[in-house]
Amino acid sequence: MSSAPVLRVKDLTTRFYTSQGAVTAVDGVSFSVGRGETLGLVGESGSGKSVTAMSIIRLVSPPGRIESGSVELNGTELLSLDEEAMRRHRGTSAGMVFQNPMTALNPVFAVGWQMREALRAHGRDGEDADAIIRKALADVGMPDPLRQAASFPHQMSGGMRQRVVIAMGMLNDPQLLIADEPTTALDVTIQAQVLDLMKKLIHDHGTALLLITHNMGVIAKMCDRVLVMYAGEIVEEAPVEQLFADSRHPYTRGLLRSIPRADQPRGKLLTLPGSPPDMSELPPGCRFRNRCSYAQERCSTHPSLLAVAPGHLARCWVTQDGGRLDAAEGSKRAGAGALAGAGHAG
Ligand SMILES: Nc1ncnc2c1ncn2[C@@H]1O[C@H](COP(=O)(O)OP(=O)(O)O)[C@@H](O)[C@H]1O
Ligand code: SF4
Ligand SMILES: [Mg+2]
Repeated sequence: MSSAPVLRVKDLTTRFYTSQGAVTAVDGVSFSVGRGETLGLVGESGSGKSVTAMSIIRLVSPPGRIESGSVELNGTELLSLDEEAMRRHRGTSAGMVFQNPMTALNPVFAVGWQMREALRAHGRDGEDADAIIRKALADVGMPDPLRQAASFPHQMSGGMRQRVVIAMGMLNDPQLLIADEPTTALDVTIQAQVLDLMKKLIHDHGTALLLITHNMGVIAKMCDRVLVMYAGEIVEEAPVEQLFADSRHPYTRGLLRSIPRADQPRGKLLTLPGSPPDMSELPPGCRFRNRCSYAQERCSTHPSLLAVAPGHLARCWVTQDGGRLDAAEGSKRAGAGALAGAGHAG
């Protein structure tokens, strides 16, 4: 098997042309996903995670536009394919799972019928569709696949519906699955079950996973490597253990501190103080500067994403110079009051 990455994204830039001006939602993003690897993409709401995913599979709709860059899936440049060829790639080379199962499921058809359509759309009419669908539903833990195939989406629980969407995403055995907040809408117990299931499924099939979440707990449970996104840019990239043990970006440190703890009242997630910059009017310099307790003079110049350790990149002047981000010091400087519980990012 080749060791070339399944997905290689280079300098991807996607903008929305709104009445308030051009919003650069994804700004020069580059990364790759290795075969069978689970890469996490984490960041607060509005940081550009979903637009990155939608750009990869070319489902950005007006007023959005992919401005530049390259998206290579298994060596094929997707950004230059015609729409017909692109449609064939969606679902076959790259499966998709989104936050709300009802965006993927049609309420008026039984799920088995919808899966049959998905097979047909990819030229698999000749195969034994019933057997494939039964197996796909059994693989996602459906207790009675025959009965579930005959059910309509509204007859299922949220967790069951999301299992069906995962079964559909995996139906054509893609090399890459893109899952955007796949369990965010589910309650905590079901969320854990669905994540366990995805983990087993992609492991059994050798499928690479690009997993988008705002939840560091989900990252810790699932990922091999992590990208941290802020205001349209990647600000840190590292193997998961390294990110948790020795993060080199103040924003990531803040996200890590915001993981809800067992002793926090339910529903009260800690959030980072301050808010991200207005994407239509980005400040010069580091985009995290107005929230950063380490900010200094040179942070008025925009930092690049550079290696700070093997396999570890950070977009921060301090750590690029070998400076340390002391966890205790950072949280002291952020101020205990500023970390008050509030609504959570999504
Ligand atoms: N349809 C749209 N029209 C205008 N701007 C949009 C649209 N969709 C997304 N954006 C912009 O792109 C940014 C990134 O959005 P998104 O990728 O959905 O964030 P995330 O998934 O990280 O929460 C948003 O902050 C918003 O400014
Ligand atoms: S470059 Fe400066 S402002 Fe930006 S994260 Fe690093 S220390 Fe903070
Ligand atoms: Mg999103």
